[in-house]
Amino acid sequence: MMMNVEHTFLISVILSFLLIANSEVYIVTIEGDPVISYSGGIDGFEATAVESDQKLDFTSDLITSYSQHLEMRHDKLLETLFDAEMYTKLYSYKHLINGFAVHISPEQAEKLRRAPGVKSVDQDWKVRKLTTHTPQFLGLPTGVWPTGGGFDRAGENIVIGFVDSGIFPHHPSFQNPRIDPYEPLPRYRGKCEVDPHTKTSFCNGKIVGAQHFAKAATVSGAFNPEIDFASPLDGDGHGSHTASIAAGNNGVPVRLHGYEYGRASGMAPRARIAVYKALFRLFGGFVSDVVAAIEQAVHDGVDIINLSVGPNSPPATTRTTFLNPFDAVLLSAVKSGVFVAQAAGNGGPFAKTLVSYSPWIASVAAAVDDRRYKNHLTIGNGKILAGIGMSPATRLNKKYTLVAANDVMLDTSGKSNPADCQKPEVLNKNKVQGNILLCGYSFNFVIGSASMAKVAETAKSLGAVGFVLAVENASPGTKFDPVPVGIPGILITDVDKSAELVDYYNVSTSRDWNGRVKSFKAVGAIGDGLEPILHKSAPMVALFSARGPNIKDYSFQDADLLKPDILAPGSLIWASWSPNGTDEANYLGEHFAMISGTSMAAPHIAGIAALVKQKHPHWSPAAIKSALMTTSKTLDRGERPILAQQYSGSETTTFVKATPFDYGSGHVNPRAALDPGLIFDAGYEDYLGFLCTTPGLNSNEIRNYTHQPCNYKLGHPYNLNSPSIAVSHLVRTQTVTRTVTNVDQKETYRITARMSPAVDIETSPVAMTILPGESRKFYVTMTVRSVTGTYCFGEVFLKGDRGHKVRIPVVAMGYDR
Ligand SMILES: *[C@@H]1O[C@H](CO)[C@@H](O)[C@H](O)[C@H]1NC(C)=O
Ligand SMILES: *[C@@H]1O[C@H](CO)[C@@H](O)[C@H](O)[C@H]1NC(C)=O
Ligand SMILES: *[C@@H]1O[C@H](CO)[C@@H](O)[C@H](O)[C@H]1NC(C)=O
Ligand SMILES: *[C@@H]1O[C@H](CO)[C@@H](O)[C@H](O)[C@H]1NC(C)=O
Repeated sequence: MMMNVEHTFLISVILSFLLIANSEVYIVTIEGDPVISYSGGIDGFEATAVESDQKLDFTSDLITSYSQHLEMRHDKLLETLFDAEMYTKLYSYKHLINGFAVHISPEQAEKLRRAPGVKSVDQDWKVRKLTTHTPQFLGLPTGVWPTGGGFDRAGENIVIGFVDSGIFPHHPSFQNPRIDPYEPLPRYRGKCEVDPHTKTSFCNGKIVGAQHFAKAATVSGAFNPEIDFASPLDGDGHGSHTASIAAGNNGVPVRLHGYEYGRASGMAPRARIAVYKALFRLFGGFVSDVVAAIEQAVHDGVDIINLSVGPNSPPATTRTTFLNPFDAVLLSAVKSGVFVAQAAGNGGPFAKTLVSYSPWIASVAAAVDDRRYKNHLTIGNGKILAGIGMSPATRLNKKYTLVAANDVMLDTSGKSNPADCQKPEVLNKNKVQGNILLCGYSFNFVIGSASMAKVAETAKSLGAVGFVLAVENASPGTKFDPVPVGIPGILITDVDKSAELVDYYNVSTSRDWNGRVKSFKAVGAIGDGLEPILHKSAPMVALFSARGPNIKDYSFQDADLLKPDILAPGSLIWASWSPNGTDEANYLGEHFAMISGTSMAAPHIAGIAALVKQKHPHWSPAAIKSALMTTSKTLDRGERPILAQQYSGSETTTFVKATPFDYGSGHVNPRAALDPGLIFDAGYEDYLGFLCTTPGLNSNEIRNYTHQPCNYKLGHPYNLNSPSIAVSHLVRTQTVTRTVTNVDQKETYRITARMSPAVDIETSPVAMTILPGESRKFYVTMTVRSVTGTYCFGEVFLKGDRGHKVRIPVVAMGYDR
């Protein structure tokens, strides 16, 4: 049975591999500036007024004809090299990088690589959605949804672009409100596709753009129009979920199975949504589709891009984490003033598992929030067994007969596995009715299509009053998510408790010599699991959240740049879902879902960035990121240091004091971020300087990706003006420079620092008075006191006499004294 399932899976994998074995998608960049860095003069085109970090007018005649010119060059190059029927050009990239995606054979790729003017040829690679399917036991966000007062206009006139799995446009979270409807937003130029099924536009005023990018997915044979939909419609659920976290309407009731789980609101509920679908249900997506989506988003004029994707693995053909077509295109997006929030990755809790590397991106780690859902089963011998299940209780003071699915099956042929209660038709309704159905948690819940939602449906359709799903074996450390169900139901996750239950059931149930049940005498009652328990030890870094140190290349050498940047809620997040989505078995056909991942954390940051951008429209992406980071918190709600979930040796979850490698600067604090006092600003030139000083990065390679020479030096990559300090190789004494800019009134700041004892830290000057708009440098000097072979952690703190508190994390590893 189980084997069959795995077999089919294997065969289908091999088939799709064969289909694509011959031709592949390649991302090619060629000489010549993309629109974003074009400064004129090439091939008869006049200079444009492109200052670095300034938004381009993509509609100007000159830009339009320059981009047509680039596209013609792409076509000409391909025409001169190959016969027309031997290749398919999928996209021309003109805005952020100059190049194209093309479907060709590896031999043709070789030929392209050697062609004059070709700068890079990278085979396309897959990206994936950064939701986690690791079932999680803990928490549900609540305080993260600012509702009412003051936030009614939050995000007004800001457009957030979602490069994700699309959207379910009919959801209440995405409607144009009848009271106070949106005004048109002429500066945004995105297209709106029409739904092929309903013939209506995907846009409605709240959703201002909706397009899909599936050419690479299609030619590679991975795209399935039945479930992936050749339109912006969300066939997964992920895209609708993340869009509503960042920008969903305020006060939308979260209803499932007749119960209300509170009200949802996006972080910036008045922000507009621009959908760039490039991710699909089963396989995630392809970089060439994602790059096309990002190019389009920047061209269309989004303010913020929320990226829920990261590479499945580092790209094979580039040597550094910062320079690949994906990060290069994001650098161009940042250059044009777009803030990019990206999920840090879900490979935690192990070190160096980040998949978001570059300084121009805000890399977001995921926190567990303060709500926990617990439930219990009381059995006839008086024992109370703990479990999870967001369900109503059985009737007060009444116990119901327990009947195991195994003992009430109709179909004894062995063709199906009735014990996991996925199909009502194999069970005897007469025996289940009015009782509690006892089911077993099989491997099919982990790898197959079995779900707790189906158990609830089965129990309901057989007239059971409730159900118990018992986990009888599980690998240690396995965590389970609570699932909302409409009838009393509980998942007993602890193997020992399940054994107690089974023993009790066995002892109480009398059988004939064939093993058939003569009478069911075991009884039980299910408690109320709808009410969450609030914990003070929140936020906490989620187990799955990827951890630093950041790496600078694919030999996993440490970078002099701290990642992740910031922590935001990302565990068990309630948000909108697409009823057309098929990604989560427990939420098929539903309008809301509660899921986990750094993918859920990043849109929190995208939404809060929209609020900052609304208040400070002219701030650079780096300034916004700085405001979010320097005001974040390292203490939890109980005013103790934030903890991180970790595995202990035996793979059970433990809690350790979190470090900047777990949470960057700390947990986001939206209100403080609106008024940071000082910012650490940086722009395109600074990022180039970072690249040019990073050891091992070849200046030709940098030029090939950025179209800029390396004539700007920071001295050392740790001097990049980021709101954090990382020195991966501290030898004796080193001094790091930072520059702060006052974005408020004149204020005097005292500068202090502290660090764990193995490294001495000093700052100078001790204090400085900064005028409004003025920038001032300060220096942080670190000296190795003892070589410990581990990182030391600390912070630099700037305290203003008008009340601003500016804090940046410091990490350093001492080598030589
Ligand atoms: C339940 O009892 C039957 C015999 O009545 C026995 O074969 C079976 O192993 C028992 N199961 C457990 C889990 O104890
Ligand atoms: C998407 O889901 C909605 C609501 O369940 C349904 O009406 C619609 O037909 C679905 N669309 C497609 C293309 O399956
Ligand atoms: C935002 O980005 C995060 C991570 O980068 C991702 O998980 C999430 O799905 C994105 N949200 C939207 C609405 O695209
Ligand atoms: C950069 O591009 C040139 C062609 O313009 C190519 O010859 C060179 O190998 C590339 N350098 C690197 C390091 O990729």
